[in-house]
Amino acid sequence: MRKPTIDMKIFAERRKKVAAEIAGGALVVASHPEHIRNHDVHYPYRQDSNLFYLTGWEEPESILIYRPGLNPETVMFVRRRDPERETWDGFRYGPEGCEREFGVDKAYPIDEFKKVAPTLLKEVDKVYYRMYKNPEADHIMQDVLESVKAMQGRTGYGLLPIHDADTLLGEHRLVKSEYELTQLREACEISAQAHLAAMRFTRPGVTERQVQGVLAHQFYMRGSAREGYHSIVASGNSATTLHYNFNDQVCKDGDLLLIDAGAEFNYYTGDITRTYPVNGKFTDEQARVYEGVLKVQKQICDFVKPGIVFKELHDMGTSLLTDLMLELGLLSGRKDDLIQALAQKKYYPHGIGHWLGMDVHDAGLYFKKGEPRPIEANMCFTIEPGLYIPYDDTSAPQKYRGIGIRIEDNLRVTSSGSENMTSSAPKEISDLEKVIGH
Ligand code: GLY
Ligand code: MN
Ligand code: MN
Repeated sequence: MRKPTIDMKIFAERRKKVAAEIAGGALVVASHPEHIRNHDVHYPYRQDSNLFYLTGWEEPESILIYRPGLNPETVMFVRRRDPERETWDGFRYGPEGCEREFGVDKAYPIDEFKKVAPTLLKEVDKVYYRMYKNPEADHIMQDVLESVKAMQGRTGYGLLPIHDADTLLGEHRLVKSEYELTQLREACEISAQAHLAAMRFTRPGVTERQVQGVLAHQFYMRGSAREGYHSIVASGNSATTLHYNFNDQVCKDGDLLLIDAGAEFNYYTGDITRTYPVNGKFTDEQARVYEGVLKVQKQICDFVKPGIVFKELHDMGTSLLTDLMLELGLLSGRKDDLIQALAQKKYYPHGIGHWLGMDVHDAGLYFKKGEPRPIEANMCFTIEPGLYIPYDDTSAPQKYRGIGIRIEDNLRVTSSGSENMTSSAPKEISDLEKVIGH
């Protein structure tokens, strides 16, 4: 018999925290849709982050209805037990197991949703639900909302107003609790140790796929359930492709290797990028570009503290990296004019970072009512400046062509600055040169 591995109090507390904001309403959260199956082959399933955040529930075809203050308060709709399917696909808790093990007040079979949900929702005055994430759930929710309206008769009630559950829950997920920080730190540490192992393994002649295998081996050996996202292992000019994911080339002497990889641990993910020479020794040109990006990265990390807004970090990245492009002769002209014309995007086309947590690009607003929001203690995000100079960019100095560099760390905002949760992965040239290939 399977048992959940996380204390259910964690999830009950999270629901309680949301309760005050939705008083009088109900929160409805559907599971992630099942992955498309390729013939008979199944792909690993990962629960929708919001549903996991509120319940710890990992099965597909499930819906939560949470009605703070009403009885029953936490109601789950889940797949029935099915001995035949279970011999193929594995254990299901069923409604009984869900009630018994997951601390919910009531659980029903999912096939009763259309019948039962209207009776639960007719007692509330609004619904928090996120459309367009699970088309099947959207479909039955439409019918349910229509049934609720029909049940009210001509009493003046229209369709229940629908508010966006993602925005609501995103704000809760943005500031991490102590429990969440413990999981996220572990995800970051596993990721950092995997990068270290990849550095040690790297030498001319290894393949990108082998390096990806070293990363995955470390992830699983250290307790991670999966990659937080598809690992990017990009050698040579491929490092200038932001989302390179073929990982099928041989790492060559003289080339740089860019690895963007993070492990997921208990639904929290690390997101680290390191770039270093395949042969363990930076050339002068590689070192010059690398040191430039590293200096920018460290300056921005040092600037992080409560009260600043994320946009300041973006702007700082743009400004400092444009200085670097001018210094390296990639661009010429007046810095302000170049930035005005977005000229820097040619070599630095992405942003400086993003919230980090259960999703690699985690939930939470960057702006509130049109204004950039100040960052607060225990928000977590990446800082990941980069410079990408394609080999066929004839306007760039020849010596820099084919160099792509990104350096990405994961920060937690503290009361006065930041904690770098990925500091176990070396990034100084002297440290990198000591570990690569050893
Ligand atoms: N690995 C995805 C990102 O860095 O945003
Ligand atoms: Mn990132
Ligand atoms: Mn990344």
